[in-house]
Amino acid sequence: MATDLHAPPRHLIRPEILAATDALGEELTEEALREHIWPLFSRVLNRPIHPKLGRPEIYLANHSLGRPLDCTADDVMGALDLWYRDLDAAWDGWMEARDKFRALVAALLGVERADCVVPKTSAGQGLRAVLNALLRPDRPLSIVATRGEFDSIDFILKMYADKGWAQVHWVEASGGRQGVPCMTKADITGAVAAHNPDLLVVSGAFFSTGQVLEAALWEIAEFAHKADTLVLADLYHKVGVVPPCLDRWNPWIDFAIGGSYKYIRGGPGACWLYINPRHLDHDNEPGALRTLDTGWFAKKDTFKYERTEKPLLAPGGDAWLESTSPFSTCYQALAGMELMLAIGVERLRMYSIEQQVLMRDIFHGKGVDMFDPDPPAQFGAFSLLPHHNAPALSDALREEGVNTDARGKYVRFGPDILNSREELELAALITARVMK
Ligand SMILES: Cc1ncc(COP(=O)(O)O)c(C=O)c1O
Repeated sequence: MATDLHAPPRHLIRPEILAATDALGEELTEEALREHIWPLFSRVLNRPIHPKLGRPEIYLANHSLGRPLDCTADDVMGALDLWYRDLDAAWDGWMEARDKFRALVAALLGVERADCVVPKTSAGQGLRAVLNALLRPDRPLSIVATRGEFDSIDFILKMYADKGWAQVHWVEASGGRQGVPCMTKADITGAVAAHNPDLLVVSGAFFSTGQVLEAALWEIAEFAHKADTLVLADLYHKVGVVPPCLDRWNPWIDFAIGGSYKYIRGGPGACWLYINPRHLDHDNEPGALRTLDTGWFAKKDTFKYERTEKPLLAPGGDAWLESTSPFSTCYQALAGMELMLAIGVERLRMYSIEQQVLMRDIFHGKGVDMFDPDPPAQFGAFSLLPHHNAPALSDALREEGVNTDARGKYVRFGPDILNSREELELAALITARVMK
């Protein structure tokens, strides 16, 4: 029987987190979050007093580096304790944590098989594993990618192109809302039709604008699939923000990449590559998709130490594992994902949309006009303030105790469940003053 993929996997969530989230009630409110969830974050909520604010800085860069739970430190310490106590027997516990990491990411993605999720230390490493599975000796890979991809992805693709291993066709955004450039479905399907590429690389939510591709991503991926183009979706800004979007929600996506350090509060280094199950389980057959990014954990029967002349791969997604990988990053990412799943990404999404609408209203009331998308659900978990010198404005805000960041012509404000209305009002006041 198919499991309800929207139901939280309670067996993967620790009692302390379940007790807090079970007490929240139907609707998320600041009051309930303050009472039940904020105590799980005492360390980040009690940071040093900012000299100009007389209170800790107002952290609105949650879209950039998410705030960790208190128990994240205990989890990482627990991983080290195992090492001190058990020495080489610690591997068993570390492997369990790695499997739990895969299961939690799978739950966030709405994917039934946890082995479809392969731990990576960066999203870029996931991209390279895919490129290195597709490389061909007879010609460069043909790739369509959007100009909206994150710097790491953009840079890796350009390096492959520079070495002559790929030809990249870049898609510019032709659409826009109130001056914010947006990708249209036709921009991307048009490029796929024109170039008939091996691979399409596209974000599910764009890092600089926050534009979210929902139904359009399904349609684009289906279009690409029919054109025999594989699709890699960068979901870094989507996972933990928008409910699951793979497997039965979007069966056309072949690969997805993402990581933990933003919305899912897991710090850097805990990233992953998703591989659609239709590409798994054929690894030892001729013509199967197999990556050069490999190592002994991808071998069939890793611990038998057999050395067949032809590489024989482990079953399923384990065929995409590589060499000995870090373990502490998995521990570091567990609590954040458990919390997201226990609260429920749908509820978090509704709260985030309402909170951002409120924030934009408050700022508007102080004469600061942020980009106000209509409908708001077409954008992710941060809001944009257009400015001719966005990096300088963001630096000036930080000086005054409001922590944001800037990309291109925009300052990004990313409030979350740990921000109060009072903080948004203070941030608006300070922003208005700094912009004068
Ligand atoms: C959309 C997107 N993809 C990827 C990354 C990170 O890439 P990497 O893990 O290769 O550094 C980011 C980081 O901000 C991002 O916003």
